[in-house]
Amino acid sequence: MTETILTPEAPSATKPGTGPDIIPGSNTRKVFVKTYGCQMNVYDSERMGDALSRDGYETVDSVEAADLVLINTCHIREKAAEKVYSQLGRLAKLKRQRNAEGGDLMVAVAGCVAQAEGREIIRRAPVVDVVIGPQTYHRLPEALARARNGEQIVETDFPAEDKFDGLPNAPEKAIRARGVAAFLTVQEGCDKFCTFCVVPYTRGAEVSRPVGRIIEEAVRLADAGVREITLLGQNVNAWHGKAEDGREWGLGELIRRLATIDGIDRIRYTTSHPRDMDEALIEAHRDLPELMPYLHLPVQSGSDRILKAMNRRHTAEDYLRLVERIRAARPDIALSGDFIVGFPGETDADFEDTMALIREVNYAAAFSFKYSIRPGTPGADMEDQVDEAVKSDRLTRLQDLLAEQTRAFGRECVGKVVDLLLEKPGRNTGQLIGRSPWLQPVIIDAMAGEIGDIVRVRITQPGTGSLFAEVVE
Ligand code: SAH
Ligand code: SF4
Ligand code: F3S
Repeated sequence: MTETILTPEAPSATKPGTGPDIIPGSNTRKVFVKTYGCQMNVYDSERMGDALSRDGYETVDSVEAADLVLINTCHIREKAAEKVYSQLGRLAKLKRQRNAEGGDLMVAVAGCVAQAEGREIIRRAPVVDVVIGPQTYHRLPEALARARNGEQIVETDFPAEDKFDGLPNAPEKAIRARGVAAFLTVQEGCDKFCTFCVVPYTRGAEVSRPVGRIIEEAVRLADAGVREITLLGQNVNAWHGKAEDGREWGLGELIRRLATIDGIDRIRYTTSHPRDMDEALIEAHRDLPELMPYLHLPVQSGSDRILKAMNRRHTAEDYLRLVERIRAARPDIALSGDFIVGFPGETDADFEDTMALIREVNYAAAFSFKYSIRPGTPGADMEDQVDEAVKSDRLTRLQDLLAEQTRAFGRECVGKVVDLLLEKPGRNTGQLIGRSPWLQPVIIDAMAGEIGDIVRVRITQPGTGSLFAEVVE
């Protein structure tokens, strides 16, 4: 499904609680934020929204109602990156229309495409006023002010200052509006340089946020009614920091500390790299009921030859032994993974190794992709690029297997009694949707509780992409 930011939507007011205190009908600037890519982009978009609301912007949920369109982009695969340009084409048309009517429209491009392509974006799409990379979001209000004077701004440094220090915290009201489960970035960037991946170039080197800041933010979230936090990082388990007592902590110790915060009942983290799963983190899974039994642990391939060419720096066997250790510590843990098919040089035999690994691990969920050439990465220059038709065929087979494993996992859940965090109303009236410990959306009768409650339920039947459950007295 292709998303477009220009689907006609009824012009509507501010999302409840996300804007500053404004008088309706006053001359407030209005921003429409469209987010692509990973959860970190979702988090960053929220933080940019906070910064803009301090700057007098109100968030609206359609392009038509906006004076500023901010697109937070993803560069991970070619399709994701190219989508931006078709949207910018449509925005150029809208801007011309506005200008003809004596109005205006500003366009800002943030995120990983902004970082990777910089000024090239303005060259290809002169409608753009501001290009701003992920490490300079604290400079967004200033960049917009300069752009309003007619300059076209490109901000893509990796500055020494910490962007989070420069970004205002969300007002409690805004956090409440976002719901009972929230993201919290603890680590950003990547030093791993997998040969297929743009992230080390778009997000920069690995940086860990300091312990104190993370705890402060978690407390603030809890005070605003958040009960579940998902710690984010491109390599979240590479997070490390100096603890309050001067000791060096890893993610396991950090989670142990966060679990003591009143009101934080559930903790998750993503995305982890197999090489950074240390003993303390595995012990945290063993010991902490707050740490949900779900782990996203991408492996990409089951072939040692391909893993080596990808620079993953572990073998299939290393991964399988790691999974064994994690399951020994937390037997009910559900695993998910990422897979790439058709990496340069991948033969049928390599692909079968991946299928064999998937059968051995048995995943509860997974994401899988055809290898996409990314300019500037070592993979782009490799010989033996795999035929598109072969990639498609492998992807279908791999996804069939993974989908069957996910369905089987859903079926196995029937009859189990689990705690659900109720997050939002269901599609049908009279229903609420909660998350199981294994991250599955679960539908229950709305009479069972209120959003924000954690209720004990019995899973009654699997649905498509979700499960049904009833409350256990
Ligand atoms: N930091 C995470 C993942 C970041 S990107 C990790 O190390 O696992 C998310 C997923 O996108 C990757 O796990 C990979 O499966 C996929 N991906 C990254 N680059 C890709 C490319 N060039 N082509 C296809 N898939 C890619
Ligand atoms: Fe990309 Fe590899 Fe870093 Fe993950 S670990 S972000 S796949 S380079
Ligand atoms: Fe995409 Fe950047 Fe995230 S490339 S996946 S938005 S880190």
